Amino acid sequence: MEKLRVGIIGCGNIANGKHMPSIAEIKELEMVAFCDIIPERAEAAAKKYGTPDAKVYTDYRELLKDETINNVRVLTHNKMHAEISIAAMRAGKHVLCEKPMAANYADALEMCKVQKETGVLLTIGYQHKYDPDVLYAKAEAAKDVFGEMYYAHANVVRRRGVPLQGLFLQMDGQGGGALIDVGTHAVDTALYIMNNYKPKMVVGKTFDKLKNQTETGNPFGDWDPSIYEVEEFASAFLEMENGATLIVEASWALNTREQTGVRYRICGTKAGMDNYDGTLKINGICNNKQYIHEPNFDPAGVAYMDTNKADLPRIKEQQVFTDAILGKGELVTTPETALVVSHILEGIYESAKTGKPYYFN
Ligand SMILES: NC(=O)c1ccc[n+]([C@@H]2O[C@H](COP(=O)([O-])OP(=O)(O)OC[C@H]3O[C@@H](n4cnc5c(N)ncnc54)[C@H](O)[C@@H]3O)[C@@H](O)[C@H]2O)c1
Repeated sequence: MEKLRVGIIGCGNIANGKHMPSIAEIKELEMVAFCDIIPERAEAAAKKYGTPDAKVYTDYRELLKDETINNVRVLTHNKMHAEISIAAMRAGKHVLCEKPMAANYADALEMCKVQKETGVLLTIGYQHKYDPDVLYAKAEAAKDVFGEMYYAHANVVRRRGVPLQGLFLQMDGQGGGALIDVGTHAVDTALYIMNNYKPKMVVGKTFDKLKNQTETGNPFGDWDPSIYEVEEFASAFLEMENGATLIVEASWALNTREQTGVRYRICGTKAGMDNYDGTLKINGICNNKQYIHEPNFDPAGVAYMDTNKADLPRIKEQQVFTDAILGKGELVTTPETALVVSHILEGIYESAKTGKPYYFN
């Protein structure tokens, strides 16, 4: 079988931690080109993950000239997502771009337009949709186990977890801080389970109260206040067109006891769910009694039965994209749904700036 040829653009943390080791597990793919403005990063990636004749570039436009490349990963800082994804789509490549879709809504909208014009596939790296609890919750929601889902919390709360690599602290490079970086996953996950992509209004606040502190307790090291331009914490109240409400919290640094990944609590007319203590719980009423249903996602102690590799969210993400390219399946994260997430982030930032609610139409 001839493999689909992949180009990697941006060979930093997420390329090494998520994409390249995952693509290496997909039998239909091979990595043939690597680009980074820091040449050693592209060279090291090519050596570790590339085909024997893999090419190395420092200019993504050169990589895109290779007509044999079928699809690319865009894994740079947020600001470059739109420019590179648009150029790649215009060059006829299918694109898996990291989250958030872009550094702002206008850029994300342009990406959607170009996707429609070119007809290639565009998807965004929201891998939490493939977390076992999210898959389960989504399946139950599709069976109407929860009824009308009208109230949700979506959050990622890091007590201390300010990323210091690359351009993470710079407004121009990223378009924001904790909200656009980790909050975007929480919003995406909650909307996905609720299957509700029609926001009406949002009120948001952002904070940078801790940035001048020097004894930070940050596991990645102390941040430098002189280059720290983005928010460390954001909170928001979102109302959807159907009246459902969503409370969003996202922090890189907050004086709270918790330190969490993507969390959600979603309440419906028939039942609710949350993953607040690390596992999915479905809460309902049966025979006039309250019940808590807790699915078991591990192989229950069976020796040598660790999670099947193909089920890992980072690998599923690549397989779903590959299957969609091959016409064997549909994208899970469509450009349209990722665009709504970007619009919500922008609405929160706008509301924080103006001190007024932001309306989506
Ligand atoms: N899905 C997730 O859970 C997740 C987690 C972490 C990061 N991310 C996303 O991944 C993206 C990258 O984050 P990171 O942590 O890997 O950052 P990083 O700084 O470690 O890596 C970015 C790489 O892009 C390179 N680069 C910059 N401009 C370039 C250009 N014009 N052409 C080619 N290469 C260029 C940089 O030199 C760097 O090596 C961000 O958008 C971030 O939001 C997603």
